[in-house]
Amino acid sequence: MPAYTIVDHAFDVVVVGAGGAGLRATLECALKGLKTACITKVFPTRSHTVAAQGGVAASLGNMGEDNWRWHMYDTVKGSDWLGDQDAIEYLCRHAPDAVYELEHWGMPFSRTPEGKIYQRAFGGMTSNYGEGIVQRTCAAADRTGHAMLHTLYGQCVKHEVNFFIEYFALDLIMEDGACRGVMAWCLDDGTIHRFRAHKVILATGGYGRAYQSCTGAHTQTGDGNAMVLRAGLPLQDMEFVQFHPTGIFGAGVLITEGVRGEGGYLTNSEGERFMERYAPHAKDLASRDVVSRAMTIEIREGRGVGPGKDHIHLHLSHLDPKIIHERLPGISESARIFAGVDVTREPIPVLPTVHYNMGGIPCAYTGDALTLSGGNPDTVVPGLMAVGEAACVSVHGANRLGSNSLIDLVVFGKAAGTQAAKELANADAPHELKRGAGEEAVARLDRFRNASGSTSVASLRAAMQKAMQEDAAVFRTGDSLSQGQKRIAAIYAQRSDVEVRDHTLIWNTDLVEALEFDNLIQQAVVTVAGAVNRLESRGAHAREDYPNRDDDFWMKHTLAWLNPETGETHIDYRPVHTYTLTSEVEYIKPKARTY
Ligand code: FUM
Repeated sequence: MPAYTIVDHAFDVVVVGAGGAGLRATLECALKGLKTACITKVFPTRSHTVAAQGGVAASLGNMGEDNWRWHMYDTVKGSDWLGDQDAIEYLCRHAPDAVYELEHWGMPFSRTPEGKIYQRAFGGMTSNYGEGIVQRTCAAADRTGHAMLHTLYGQCVKHEVNFFIEYFALDLIMEDGACRGVMAWCLDDGTIHRFRAHKVILATGGYGRAYQSCTGAHTQTGDGNAMVLRAGLPLQDMEFVQFHPTGIFGAGVLITEGVRGEGGYLTNSEGERFMERYAPHAKDLASRDVVSRAMTIEIREGRGVGPGKDHIHLHLSHLDPKIIHERLPGISESARIFAGVDVTREPIPVLPTVHYNMGGIPCAYTGDALTLSGGNPDTVVPGLMAVGEAACVSVHGANRLGSNSLIDLVVFGKAAGTQAAKELANADAPHELKRGAGEEAVARLDRFRNASGSTSVASLRAAMQKAMQEDAAVFRTGDSLSQGQKRIAAIYAQRSDVEVRDHTLIWNTDLVEALEFDNLIQQAVVTVAGAVNRLESRGAHAREDYPNRDDDFWMKHTLAWLNPETGETHIDYRPVHTYTLTSEVEYIKPKARTY
């Protein structure tokens, strides 16, 4: 192996990722006086949070009565009873303060005429335990993620956070079952960096790019999740992949659920508002899994729109143009650019599109990463934490409610920073690393850098995305999933024949794409394995051969380990937390989920 220049660093905490969760965790660590670094492969304000549109959920009650207990009920129900209720209580109780904190830091929320934060309706968000629709989603027009990310970045700059920008995280440094740091490649000058730290907080987002059509950025490759798999640790509930009902047909670009929150609706080829049949109460504002399935059934049964009868119409032309201009400017532009549609006159062609991964790194609500060890399913992995979409806390269970992601980022970002500060109150410098620490990460980089096979990364990535899109879709069957598993296994085997043409280390996007593909395919393997294994339908995992939810056997989290050499998986389980955090609220018992 050729020699690489390795630059060493020591921090109390290293956060990997600078989206909403990463920045919020970084900021909390900095506010608490910890020596903190934030490593990010893109400039912070280009992280995918910037694309979040509709809003951030919190029971402020600005538009009518609301209550964090109602929010908790909705989140448990939305999760199809796979969410951990202690963590859900934590999220919903802390949500209002987290939003006010952002407001005080200058986040430019839309306002009501009295000057309060504007809140809109979103799918599955109800008043009085499902009775009515509540306006709970706090919005900055339809650019809420943009406003949030810039606010958090400004605060991080103010508090002099150490950013390592355009550094690609390669792998965790693990010693004796504990995380001691992380290796990263500086894309700008080609140097390799070894960060040793008391805590590594992974905030690396989801892996939507394992699919062909997704609302996520091209950088959304779940690098942290894959690092966890390669560290010999499990990922949790990876079979639960959320399809957002309204991606622009053909382009996959997100059209916010806020459109339906403002009064937009879906129709089929007969001009019928079909959601009235599937969710008579909530209609177009049912939870995302319900709406995506309804749209898929309409298309399958020949009631899709367009020449191919292969998509659905989303209408908002009946709304006051002033409202569209003020509250939905971003999607008006996206619809014009990506669908050639003037939303004040024509419907937007839409199709369910991969949007969010409920699964990820098993975590406590404190941010501590967990594994199953010695029979204890809540064994903390020393030194490792995770937040945001990379983490599976699990507050979203089998299906996330819209606008519960942005609130998850800031509530659990802060919680992780708080927990790190608590543990590191009197800590000395982080441990010295063993000789050769990080060598395996460099060897992996070197292998890909000099890979001289005959298969392009692009062709393998395209094959993986097609297989996932076709075989691990909105509806699944044992046959489709087994076929998908075979296709993904064949692609996994071809990794050894990959070709990387650019052998340099300076801004080598060929090599970045190879490393990202490797991360994606590892997550695809465990996603399909979990989906094959789970013989029930719950939330976003809709098995046509097992159409019912089976609480007796399957109300449990999947844990999936990967052998990176062979691509083989091992599956085990963690119990769902069927208890709350405090006695102020009772455990919400499972029942049939109707909207
Ligand atoms: O539809 C949206 O604006 C997306 C929000 C979310 O995923 O939370």
